[in-house]
Amino acid sequence: MDNRVKPHVPVLLAEVIHALAPKGGGKYIDGTVGAGGHAEALLNAAAPDGKLLGLDGDAEALRIARETLRPFGERAILIRSNFTRLEMVAAEQHWIPCDGALLDFGLSSMQLANPARGFSFQSETLDMRMDDRAELTAAEIVNTWDEAALADLIYLYGEERLARKIARLICEQRPFHSAQSLANAIERGVGRRGKIHPATRAFQALRLAVNHELENIETVLPQLERVVGPGGRVALITFHSLEDRIVKNFFKTNAAWRNLTKHPLQPTYQQTRENPRARSAKLRVAERL
Ligand SMILES: C[S@@+](CC[C@H](N)C(=O)[O-])C[C@H]1O[C@@H](n2cnc3c(N)ncnc32)[C@H](O)[C@@H]1O
Repeated sequence: MDNRVKPHVPVLLAEVIHALAPKGGGKYIDGTVGAGGHAEALLNAAAPDGKLLGLDGDAEALRIARETLRPFGERAILIRSNFTRLEMVAAEQHWIPCDGALLDFGLSSMQLANPARGFSFQSETLDMRMDDRAELTAAEIVNTWDEAALADLIYLYGEERLARKIARLICEQRPFHSAQSLANAIERGVGRRGKIHPATRAFQALRLAVNHELENIETVLPQLERVVGPGGRVALITFHSLEDRIVKNFFKTNAAWRNLTKHPLQPTYQQTRENPRARSAKLRVAERL
């Protein structure tokens, strides 16, 4: 162990390991390897020879994961890829069938905290791409989409009641070149009520659109049944209701899986205090029949 400050605290870690029950000789996939926190625990639990295939679209995340997982040598294979290509990558790596898979959707603390990425209200850019090879940025949406399209986006992906008002003020005051100026304009326009920043929902909408986050979840879920072998499990962590609804409905209607979590697992009060990012996390687990 070294003394570096951990950049990202994995959410529901013990619950994920318990759910996947990794074993020696097993092959596992982490489709959102991030800083490698879950992956590290998975590999430890799968000692001495269980293996992990880790994917992430973010080059910086993968660099950190490589360092975290270095002690495992060839037991960890890391590949920069969108998880929408999970089945293809798994096939290329001879990882089908595997014994379990984890998807921990959303952003890592490093992405959120880095002002250059444009995810936080203080950011000096308006980017929000998880993968910098992608073309669409938040700035393009904010500065070029027409008012009706922006209102629909903020309403549907942000579940924001004030979507029309926010879309109008964006169109009146653009161009915006930083998340900070956008967040301030929204705050001035709609006022501050309650604890959450008034731009929270609009920011969520932009992020989901820039990264095609909901479409990506829809794309990866059906691939899991072709990748995970019988008796293998999947653990899926979502961070807001739009994501969770997709996962929940998928397992409800799909005959390939036995749903092991009628109610999703959520962090305890203590876990949320130690890791505020975990606040809205929901873990669903299913077993391949
Ligand atoms: C919440 S973090 C995962 C943290 C990780 N479980 C850990 O313990 O460090 C989510 C990660 O998924 C990645 N990600 C999100 N959507 C992705 C996608 N469609 N394809 C590949 N990676 C994605 C993000 O770049 C981010 O690093």
